[in-house]
Amino acid sequence: MDKLPLDEIILGDCLEVMQSFPDKSVDLIVTDPPYGIGIGGSGRIGGSGIVAPKQYIPVDWDDVGLTQEQWNEMQRISKNQIVFGFNHLADILGKCAGIIVWDKKVKNGWDDNFSDCEVAYSSIGNHAKVYHHLWMGALRASETSSLDRVHPTQKPIAVMEWIINHYSADGDLILDPFCGSGTTCVAAKRLKRHYIGIEISEQYCEMARRRVAATQEPMF
Ligand SMILES: C[S@@+](CC[C@H](N)C(=O)[O-])C[C@H]1O[C@@H](n2cnc3c(N)ncnc32)[C@H](O)[C@@H]1O
Repeated sequence: MDKLPLDEIILGDCLEVMQSFPDKSVDLIVTDPPYGIGIGGSGRIGGSGIVAPKQYIPVDWDDVGLTQEQWNEMQRISKNQIVFGFNHLADILGKCAGIIVWDKKVKNGWDDNFSDCEVAYSSIGNHAKVYHHLWMGALRASETSSLDRVHPTQKPIAVMEWIINHYSADGDLILDPFCGSGTTCVAAKRLKRHYIGIEISEQYCEMARRRVAATQEPMF
């Protein structure tokens, strides 16, 4: 690829698309790849206790998790990587220097099948960092309208914003090779970073493009 398609959401298979990127051409990958745990196969996400599950169209993209080939390519084209799902993908990702925990501020002891926190692999730093942001069914510290939720495993913009703000600089290029509804790209645009998203599903790709287009870049 002669010139990287900056600030775009690309429809395609991330392995094929990444193969056209030069070595270390991306400053930071921030992503939430498939974990390989079949989430969303029934179309029901979350719930079972005090919170009702949300119904989506059943999906099969999580039947297979991040592959070694995809991870090798991610490391080749980027200077640093932050990858959610570390507890499910440790055999592929290997040992990490830093670790990021998103604490969902869920009260202990509630009878549900939500995770109390999510853990991300980080190639940066030598420490564990915790970001606290309430996210439990309809109880959320941000994006409180149900219209804000368009993807079954959508991350809060606030979480991606906190990560990008802490682990990259103004003008850096952020890549999300499994961008889903485009949350990472929305956060990157808000923070004046360049971004590229890759998404294999046409439907999610359209959602991501719509969400990014509706996002204002700050004036300063
Ligand atoms: C866990 S979701 C990401 C959700 C995203 N963080 C969000 O906030 O919307 C993973 C996404 O990876 C996409 N995907 C799976 N395999 C892919 C591939 N080979 N190339 C590109 N995207 C892929 C799926 O369609 C799914 O939308």
